[in-house]
Parts: sequence; structure tokens; C-alpha cells
Amino acid sequence: MMISGKEYRAVWLENGTIFAIDQAALPGKFKIIKIRKWQEMVRAIKNMTIRGAPAIGAAAAFGMAIAPELEFEQAYRVLWESRPTARDLFTALEYMRDAKMKGKNLAEVAQEYADKVVEICKKIGENGAPLIKDGMRILTHCNAGALATIDWGTALAPMRIAKQQGRKFTVFADETRPRLQGLLTSWELSNEGIYHFIIADNAAGHLMRRGEIDLVITGTDRVARNGDCANKIGTYEKAVLAHENGIPFYIAAPSTTIDLKLESGDLIPIEERSEEEVLNFAGKRIAPPGAKARNPAFDVTPAKYITGIITEKGIFRPCEIASSFNKL
Ligand code: MRU
Repeated sequence: MMISGKEYRAVWLENGTIFAIDQAALPGKFKIIKIRKWQEMVRAIKNMTIRGAPAIGAAAAFGMAIAPELEFEQAYRVLWESRPTARDLFTALEYMRDAKMKGKNLAEVAQEYADKVVEICKKIGENGAPLIKDGMRILTHCNAGALATIDWGTALAPMRIAKQQGRKFTVFADETRPRLQGLLTSWELSNEGIYHFIIADNAAGHLMRRGEIDLVITGTDRVARNGDCANKIGTYEKAVLAHENGIPFYIAAPSTTIDLKLESGDLIPIEERSEEEVLNFAGKRIAPPGAKARNPAFDVTPAKYITGIITEKGIFRPCEIASSFNKL
């Protein structure tokens, strides 16, 4: 991704040190952090300095690459438990363990994993771009851009390519309470020169009913065998609203996010994060004293609401995912 005229990836490894764009500091501050121990990577993933399914996966691969030989198994276990929902974390850890068993150079393998993710995302962009026609108004939820995927994005990749191909369109970015990933989407869209509006999460239904949204594209954290998709909390209701209003609803998913071992989305573990994320806003408590909160971080969109899943191999109906990705 291009930031102030310089090419960046969300996370990268250089001479044994991992560098990452601090997503918790954005959009206010552009900051690069350094990670020198796998334990620091665990913290960065847990506190969402690094976030977004494919980025978490590649970051964990880099984390494994810097773990001392004797701590490999411990690093694997602790990273495995850092976040529960995104399949990419486990895909990457399994990839690294397999490489270790084959005696490969782990820094090279982690780099190869990250490069593969970037290539996949670009392909998702190329496959999804034809869905975007001139003048369309597109809704997206959370952030599924380059920051969340190392580069290109999943849901945002088709938008980047459509823009490069010269089409003009408008994006509506849900703010995405409580962690406001929609602001990261806005930051990325601004960098790409893509015309957009941030909307409050509860504004999407209103715009859909008035015919102001033509297409929805979101990312996903895990796709089950039957095509159900987990994504950031609030995605499910957007899919139901899109269905009700006859608007095509697409999910962009790299193969690293597909989990064919899970029969349906009901089996996807849903992360429940600290209530403090809901009770506070911008570091200040906004809830009345003694109030409690629930904070499920993801929900599952049933396959029946999903028009298509945009992957690196093409666009599939949810019911075609299992047969199309059977060899994973
Ligand atoms: O809790 P987060 O910010 O890691 O959740 C991210 C999302 O839900 C994204 O939409 C998702 O990872 C899919 S695409 C990168």
C-alpha cells in the first residue's frame, strides 16, 4: 500500500526484527512498531495493534520465525490462543509447524506465507472488480483493506482495482463500533483516492431502504464448509438487510480463511472481548456507573444471505465452497 508516497506492507520481517503498522494508533497517528520477541507478537495480536484475519495469520508466521528453537512449541501454543475466530491464525501456525518439521528456514517460510497472502488478495481484487460498475454505491463493514491483510485487502481489493481501471463509485464505510475499524477503512480509501462516506453502524438499513446502496462487500474471518461466514459483529444484520432490500451481498475470502473442517458457521468460535471496549469511548468512560456490557466481536452470516464469495480462484456461491476448495 502506498502511504505518503512510500510503499508499505502491514507487517514485515527485516533482519530478525518484525515491523508493523500500529493499527491501534491509526487514523490519528501513523506509527511503525518493532517486535523482537514472539511474546510481543502475542500482545500485538491480542490488543489489536495488528488486526484483520490475513494480517493476523502472517504476523503469527513472522512471530514463529523469530521464536528461539527451544521455545517453538510454547510460541505455537500461545499464539494459537491469542485470538479464536480468524481461521488465518491457525492456517499460518500449521504452515509454520509443517515447515519446521521439514527443517526449512523459518524466516524464509514466513516471508513466503506473507507473499502468498498478498498475491491471493490481489487476485481477489481482480476477480471482484467486475462486480463494481460505474456509479455504484457500495457498503462495507469493518476494515478488510491492506492493513488487515498485509496488502491489497480482501473486500477493498476489488475497489482498488476498479478504481485503477477508471471506474467511479462511492463507498459507505460502517463506523464499526466498538473498535471503529471503519475509520481504518476510511483512512485506506482516502490514501487510494476513493470517494467515500463514513456512516454510523445503524444508518445502513436506512440507506438500503431508500435505494442508496447497490452492492455490499465485506471480508470474513472464517468460512465454514457450508458457506456460512463469520465476520465483524454487525455483518449479519447488514446481510439480512441487504437480502430484505434485494441488494447483492458479497464476502471476499482468501483460501487461508476457509475452514472445511467446520460443517457450519454455528461451530465457529466467537470471540467475546472485554466489556471495557463498549463502556468506554476514546479512552473515557461513557456508560453510567455500574453498567455492564456484552461485547461479542464477531457474528455469523448464514450462507443463504450471501450472494457470492469472492476468492482468488473466482467467485463462488456459498454452496460451492466445499467442492471448490476441497484439497485445502
Ligand atoms: O477484530 P478484528 O479487527 O481483527 O476483525 C477484523 C474483521 O472482522 C475483518 O472484517 C476480517 O478480518 C476480514 S478481512 C480482513
